[in-house]
Amino acid sequence: MYFYGTTGVNKNGNLEIGGVDSVQLTKEFGTPLYVYDVALMRERARSFKQAFEEQNIKAQVAYASKAFSTIAMIQLAEEEGLSLDVVSGGELYTALVAGFPVERIHFHGNNKSREELEMALDQEIGCIVVDNFFELELLKTISIEKNAHVNILLRITPGIEAHTHDYILTGQEDSKFGFDLQNGQAEDALKMALEVENFEVLGLHCHIGSQIFETTGFLLAAKKIVEKMEVWKHKLSFEAKVLNLGGGFGIRYTKEDEPLQPSQYVSEIIREVKKLTESYSLKMPEIWIEPGRSLVGDAGITLYKVGSSKEVPGVRKYLAVDGGMSDNIRPALYQAKYEAVLANKPLTKADKTVSIAGKCCESGDMLIWDLPLPETNEEDILAVFCTGAYGYSMANNYNRIPRPAVVFVENGTATLVVKRETFADLIQHDLPLK
Ligand SMILES: Cc1ncc(COP(=O)(O)O)c(C=O)c1O
Repeated sequence: MYFYGTTGVNKNGNLEIGGVDSVQLTKEFGTPLYVYDVALMRERARSFKQAFEEQNIKAQVAYASKAFSTIAMIQLAEEEGLSLDVVSGGELYTALVAGFPVERIHFHGNNKSREELEMALDQEIGCIVVDNFFELELLKTISIEKNAHVNILLRITPGIEAHTHDYILTGQEDSKFGFDLQNGQAEDALKMALEVENFEVLGLHCHIGSQIFETTGFLLAAKKIVEKMEVWKHKLSFEAKVLNLGGGFGIRYTKEDEPLQPSQYVSEIIREVKKLTESYSLKMPEIWIEPGRSLVGDAGITLYKVGSSKEVPGVRKYLAVDGGMSDNIRPALYQAKYEAVLANKPLTKADKTVSIAGKCCESGDMLIWDLPLPETNEEDILAVFCTGAYGYSMANNYNRIPRPAVVFVENGTATLVVKRETFADLIQHDLPLK
């Protein structure tokens, strides 16, 4: 068994997290239950920030709130001095209600609506990451109408796609996001943006992928962009104050995953950007990053009650839990892999192999294939590790299953931060035919 953050086994032989007994948590808050290890989230936030501070590099570490956006989480990000990346009016609204400092909010998205952009300008948020020509025009119009000054970054598609250990150099990036660097769109966009009086073009942004275990992709992206910065300095008299290299830092979901420490990603990025800017006689820009998964992913555990089982002789044994693709769609969406143990007997020898099925009416609703587990019964609680990112935030009400509660645990205290949905919640916006 791999122990994440503060997880361990307590004197009752149960899985413990944040100094709290996980079985006790299920008695108090029910199942399925998302549990977050606050100390681990704080540690991650601090190590990303510290890696920049130690080298005296001006930086912003923006939590990509799409990974897990709730008021409590955003307040935690605030406590840790992070900035915040939002990608919709809803995420922005959550941040505002949480009281997050507006000047540290960055607004992303490939199809921001007029209403969303107006909301961002009215709230005077830190910056807007402009994604495409349509948005550039729309934002220009709105900023003139409102006589508002806007800080922007331009999202660049550098022609690098990274995922886990692979990175691919693509000639012309086939992506719905950003201005392409190769085909001249990025330069055209920059020219247009520099002509808008109400815009302050802070710099450039790229995000090359997710669950990345090596630095090569980030360094290549930095190289491609800094090379262009040199060109644009001479051609357009533009010097970027900010270089935002996005998120995508990998985490350990299973024993096959070997992520780097935050400090390793950051120190290599700093070294490369320093080297490149010095060689082109450019000013060292601020470096911004946007970790999502690596701040919250392995801090989350989902606790389920074990239910029915089905044996297909000679083929496999299915074991069902009281949640599934409604609280974690990642396995169904992109074959994401997880590890799990029984929370009430985590150290008991696993002498069976079972496949964990969800309760949704979909054959694809499988959470884990071929999981080693001991014999189970209906008293058992399954703890699936590493569900903190894109679990709750992608949760849905398929089959009218209420979304689970979320609990933060720290120093022996459990705090309910999202209430469990009720059946009444599910129909609250339904209207009768007559
Ligand atoms: C622009 C941008 N920044 C940051 C992130 C966060 O990525 P991750 O959670 O893998 O760190 C994403 C994820 O989709 C993204 O699109």
